[in-house]
Amino acid sequence: MKHELVIVLDFGGQYNQLIARRVRECNVYCEVKPYTTPLAELKAMEPIGIIFTGGPNSVYLEDSPHVDPEIFTWGVPVLGICYGCQLMAYTLGGLVTEATDDSAREYGKTQTFYDTSCKLFQGLPQEGISWMSHGDYMARVPEGFSLVAHSNACPNVAIADEARGFYGVQYHPEVNHTQHGTDMIRNFLYQVCGAKGDWTMEDFCRRTVASLREKIDGGRVLLALSGGVDSSVLAALLAEAIGDRLTCVFVDHGLMRKNEGGEVEEAFRKWDVQFVRVDAEERFLSKLAGVEDPQEKRRIIGAEFGYVFRDEAERFGITNQDYLAQGTIYPDVIESGKGDADVIKSHHNRLLPPEVVARFKGVLEPLDLLFKDEVRQLGRELGLPEYLVMRQPFPGPGLAIRIIGAVTKEKADTLREADYIYREEIAKAGWDTKISQYFAVLTDTRSVGVQGDGRTYDSLLALRGVTTTDFMTADWARIPYEVLDKVSVRIINEVPGINRICYDITSKPPATIEWE
Ligand code: XMP
Repeated sequence: MKHELVIVLDFGGQYNQLIARRVRECNVYCEVKPYTTPLAELKAMEPIGIIFTGGPNSVYLEDSPHVDPEIFTWGVPVLGICYGCQLMAYTLGGLVTEATDDSAREYGKTQTFYDTSCKLFQGLPQEGISWMSHGDYMARVPEGFSLVAHSNACPNVAIADEARGFYGVQYHPEVNHTQHGTDMIRNFLYQVCGAKGDWTMEDFCRRTVASLREKIDGGRVLLALSGGVDSSVLAALLAEAIGDRLTCVFVDHGLMRKNEGGEVEEAFRKWDVQFVRVDAEERFLSKLAGVEDPQEKRRIIGAEFGYVFRDEAERFGITNQDYLAQGTIYPDVIESGKGDADVIKSHHNRLLPPEVVARFKGVLEPLDLLFKDEVRQLGRELGLPEYLVMRQPFPGPGLAIRIIGAVTKEKADTLREADYIYREEIAKAGWDTKISQYFAVLTDTRSVGVQGDGRTYDSLLALRGVTTTDFMTADWARIPYEVLDKVSVRIINEVPGINRICYDITSKPPATIEWE
């Protein structure tokens, strides 16, 4: 059965996959295509609507990305976001210029006023916060368009030509900071494009199991298992598809949280799958010795994981006609850099050395179109226990990216203890289910303190806690002072080498969740 489809046309913005995420959250299937995709190809996909994403360029510059203007005579509704909005305005005869006046250049949370008679804003409040991030400005909107939203600084925050089904917004409805942003996207899909909503996780699960079975074709799979949500869900999916032809390899790189290796092992030993635990602490720590650069640490860890998998494949007779599988999800792909977007940080599973990839028939990443909350939904669909599905994420590189500067076993041990106390107190206070992810970071800053009667000159520990659903954007968690106080007192008293603690109060963006 063919799904109704929306195309997200990618102009290189950082939040592009989030747009796709939002569309699917509204139960409409969508695919992200580069802006260079020929119009004929887009037409052949028969989408019910197109969304132009944001992007880092200025439409009036010669080598900036453009579209075939015929896209606007095809009869398919278009929603332009940020750069996409300016591109639509520019292509249809409007004027876009650099905002020289500071008031027209907007960044961050902006009070915005909407015309709720416009289909895009139907049923929504007349004002709310929108997330802006643009340095260009629509000085004149094209003929046929009216202004349907404004801010105090800017008269044309959103434009619409309802007769032709063209809508443009300067802000980012896809990020959580924009109030009712998803509702606006839903209005575009259902009110403008006439979507019915035929995309569900049950359907994704059924189709993916069938296609994995067909692809693996009687072969075996070595699954890179971290014990986190993504790889656990993938284990369940693969077990459903190929049963005992699955071998799960869990690598303990010595950079796990306290007790974590044992917990993962205990959970998976109960399963009816082949489970292998590899103790590789020395191997990883020796490769990381003296390395300070975050991207370099990530590269080393990603590569070393690959070499361990290759060695284990040899050990278990997995041939070059078999597959390697990883629980890569969409944010891993996008944040590691794709298309025209800047590389923020390379997630470890994007860094397999080519010789490792060549060792297998192929690398399977069946979750690479899903966001975290979709992966959790899929886990439930597959009958995974709630404690596994709702585990807070833990990055593949582990504590290595939470120790600023060079990693040593001593620092990892210090951080493990501090992090454990933090987690224990958060759980005791009942905050573990209210925060999406929380952890401690061992900084490379030292400061002077006084403990007992003596002077100390020890490390600064940072605590981080965020709330988010998709981990693409996040807000810092408002943990009660009393809880932070308990954590601070305990860590200072119980963990040698730390004499000062701070709490990170930055959201994402502009910060990221992890410090490296
Ligand atoms: P950032 O720091 O990019 O993190 O805001 C977003 C989410 O991704 C996790 N993360 C990773 N997960 N391998 C992973 O499996 C990685 O290399 C990696 N880097 C970050 C991070 O913990 C957060 O949940």
